[in-house]
Amino acid sequence: MSDQPVIPFNHAAIEGNELEYMAESLRSGHTSSGGSFSKRAGAVLQEATGAEEVMLTTSCTAALELTALMLDLKPGDSVVVPSFTFTTTALAFARQGARLLFCDIEPRTLGLDPEHLADLLDDSVRAVVPVHYAGVACDMEGIQRVLADRPDVAVIEDNAHGLFGSYQGKPLGSLGRFATQSFHETKNLVCGEGGALLLNDPRDVDRARVLYDKGTNRRAFVMGQVDKYSWKDTGSSFGLSDTLAAYLLAQLEQRDSIQGRRRALWEKYAQALAPHAERLGYTLAVVPADREQTYHMFYLLMSDNRVRNGVLTGMREENVQPTFHYVPLHSSEAGRMFSARPTECPVTDDISGRLIRLPFYNTITPDDSDRVVETFLRTTGALVG
Ligand SMILES: Cc1ncc(COP(=O)(O)O)c(C=O)c1O
Repeated sequence: MSDQPVIPFNHAAIEGNELEYMAESLRSGHTSSGGSFSKRAGAVLQEATGAEEVMLTTSCTAALELTALMLDLKPGDSVVVPSFTFTTTALAFARQGARLLFCDIEPRTLGLDPEHLADLLDDSVRAVVPVHYAGVACDMEGIQRVLADRPDVAVIEDNAHGLFGSYQGKPLGSLGRFATQSFHETKNLVCGEGGALLLNDPRDVDRARVLYDKGTNRRAFVMGQVDKYSWKDTGSSFGLSDTLAAYLLAQLEQRDSIQGRRRALWEKYAQALAPHAERLGYTLAVVPADREQTYHMFYLLMSDNRVRNGVLTGMREENVQPTFHYVPLHSSEAGRMFSARPTECPVTDDISGRLIRLPFYNTITPDDSDRVVETFLRTTGALVG
């Protein structure tokens, strides 16, 4: 084992006024959801995405769950989700009774494959959940084309990686009826655990507010629209504490600086690693010309699973901590239990076994990112020969 200091995979940093804003929130006495910091953070997100309404939630998972409630799923309904994603992209809908149809990804962007979606689409489908993997937009045109004569099918962007990205000039998060964001400590902008639901259809706003607020019309009461509030519908306690919204606002204020440093790191890795790609048998992420990525992560696709696993182990032995990513959901125990029928996702199976993510965080030092590159090249070279 190396005696060099550890370079972690991720490190969430204080970027600006986090401590001051959180202290201000605690002193104000308004620490539950819906306070002044939530309003300010929500306004920044609304401005960035053009959403009709932004609701800060306790996580992206919670935002997906609120979306699933909004769909009023009935027995026999199904939802199309990628197999290559985080569990809750699928679980949120399974929990509301949907059967899942696991869709493959296309190998260029690792986004939902429109051709496989076309194969899976049947009368039972109520929603499709594209994930903009690594903050690179899916082929949304392809997806919309497949859904052209199915206006009844809701598109829900799982935009956990995609805040501030764009597709053909339009912000990610503005392309579906709903979009969900994550501010978990592993994301570009963080507040520990947090998320947001973006509503892009004004017809969803009133009901979503009730479901968000424990099934009550408390929001209408606070806005002076009714003189008392009561239980109206299903729902849960989805709101983010205003103290965490204070943390989030401080991060949002540093958006340009954070994104600038992440972009510089992404470009540094790309410039250092591209020249060796052919010799060492790996490929870099592809960002099509009509998309702006978010510099959420830096991944590489290794030549095969043996090399990928060997590089993971070899780098960790040198105290540099890269990691793999999603384990396919379609073949997981719960995935099989909740699926409408078995589906084949060969690209997901292949990519999942070959993908490696390098340490990637706002405050990594130039010396440490040099060490990441050097360790990666040396470890890969030793395995590939
Ligand atoms: C694509 C995707 N969706 C949803 C989530 C869940 O986010 P959260 O931890 O905010 O619930 C993640 C988590 O990393 C994710 O990668």
